[in-house]
Amino acid sequence: AIERTFSIIKPDAVRRNLIGKIIAIFEENGLRPIALKKIHMTRAQAEGFYAVHKERPFFGELVEQMIASPVVVQVLEGENAILKNREIMGATNPANAAEGTIRKLFALSVGENSVHGSDAPETAAEEIRFFFNDDELVG
Ligand code: CMP
Repeated sequence: AIERTFSIIKPDAVRRNLIGKIIAIFEENGLRPIALKKIHMTRAQAEGFYAVHKERPFFGELVEQMIASPVVVQVLEGENAILKNREIMGATNPANAAEGTIRKLFALSVGENSVHGSDAPETAAEEIRFFFNDDELVG
């Protein structure tokens, strides 16, 4: 089925001028951006977005990395988009990411792993709503 998923091109990738290369990979794999914007996340946004991780030991570092410099947030639409995006991104830790995946190509470490993508339909809907209004989604 055609799905929508939420994606972040993280600060480490934006700083290294990888926005275009990463979006090209999404488009080549049938994921079309239907909404996108460059933002500099506030601490409150980063803490809210990653609230599910707030008891984890890496939470503080995660928030600092996400607010260090701008990101690109996107809604991607396509066949089986949620799982497809996860396949294209590769494993969270680039050391475990398959050849050809975005994280294998570009990630620096598990924290600076270049992209975020929703992990399930419920979180995709929540994450899209966190950053976008309905009238910003142009399918
Ligand atoms: P992301 O998909 O954005 O979701 C949470 C992020 O926490 C994850 O990608 C990683 O960048 C970051 N992170 C940092 N350390 C860890 C860790 N040990 N395990 C999982 N995620 C981590």
